[in-house]
Amino acid sequence: MKSEERVIQVFGSHLGLEELEEIRDCLESQWIGLGPKTARLESALACHLGVDDFVLLNSGSNALQMAVHLLDLPEGAEVILPSFTWVACASAVMLCGLKPVFCDVDPATMNLTAASVERVMSPRTAAIMAIHYAGLPAPVYDLAQFGLPIIEDAAHAIDSRVAGRACGTIGDIGIYSFDSVKNLAMGEGGGLVAKDPARLERARKLRLCGISRTGFDASQRQERWWEHEIHEPFAKMTPNDLSAAVGLAQLRKLPAAQARRAAIWTLYQRELHDISWLQTPCDTLAEDRHSFFTYCVQLRGGGRDQLARHLLNRKIYTTLRFHPLHLSPVYQGNTSLTVTEDLMARAINLPLHPRLSDADLGRIIETIRAFRG
Ligand SMILES: Cc1ncc(COP(=O)(O)O)c(C=O)c1O
Repeated sequence: MKSEERVIQVFGSHLGLEELEEIRDCLESQWIGLGPKTARLESALACHLGVDDFVLLNSGSNALQMAVHLLDLPEGAEVILPSFTWVACASAVMLCGLKPVFCDVDPATMNLTAASVERVMSPRTAAIMAIHYAGLPAPVYDLAQFGLPIIEDAAHAIDSRVAGRACGTIGDIGIYSFDSVKNLAMGEGGGLVAKDPARLERARKLRLCGISRTGFDASQRQERWWEHEIHEPFAKMTPNDLSAAVGLAQLRKLPAAQARRAAIWTLYQRELHDISWLQTPCDTLAEDRHSFFTYCVQLRGGGRDQLARHLLNRKIYTTLRFHPLHLSPVYQGNTSLTVTEDLMARAINLPLHPRLSDADLGRIIETIRAFRG
């Protein structure tokens, strides 16, 4: 290993002067809480996704909890979701007094399928949560046959499309994440869209402990600005203008960042597909669009941990997203999910983010090729 080699991170943001300029407005106006930048970002995101409204929250995890809450399902009802996903997908279900039921995923797409959902369905199934893993669209249209409410987790899929339609806007409610490593990063942040505008209106009221009028709204009023109304108690999930300022700049830069992500993805696909012991991820159909959030390969015939160590020894970080939820002590009792457990043993996420240089990519590819000669 050359001593001057820098560490290559597996995820990364692309922040710069554009974000600084947006933040400057907040500091100059002394308004860093929920306010005009949040409202502007909500409109801009709605426009990006081709919907009428978007409700910004302080994280994607909280957006999941909000989404499940908005479905008003009876206590103890079951929600089907893949085990191969982020912990908050299941905890959102639990925290709403419901039962997560885990389904398997397709080994090629790493997404749930209508068949994998059907296998774990019961008379108590009340909703389905579909995750667009890495930004590859999950088959949400296929799930419509079950006639159940669908939550789309589009945390990885801010730029994904199915025949022109934005992922997250196909099911009943769609959530997004803008944490520090997402394609659109604002430190912490998330939000949701919904087919039924009444749900979004409710979410906007709920996000500040259920207070239906916010401090910024109140400051615009002339009389008794201290009064507020609570129709439904709720947690605090309020976004803020400092993060929204970063989000506004990030959204403007998204097309360029996505072009870079797409180029990296294409390079990996071209350079790695002929390695016999490696299975590269699948691409979208021609009419759809991927978000290229992460690049997950699978090793044939074992050796995943050794590859991770080989790369780490050369200062190249990798990871595995996700650790299967059905194997966590809190969710034990579910049947085994063979594809998910196989992914746990064979899959690894390689670095993919817009800050990777061509030299970084050359080093990653060369180091992978050098593993097993
Ligand atoms: C699939 C998925 N859903 C939801 C989330 C939650 O997003 P946040 O980090 O904004 O809470 C994540 C975060 O990594 C995720 O990967």
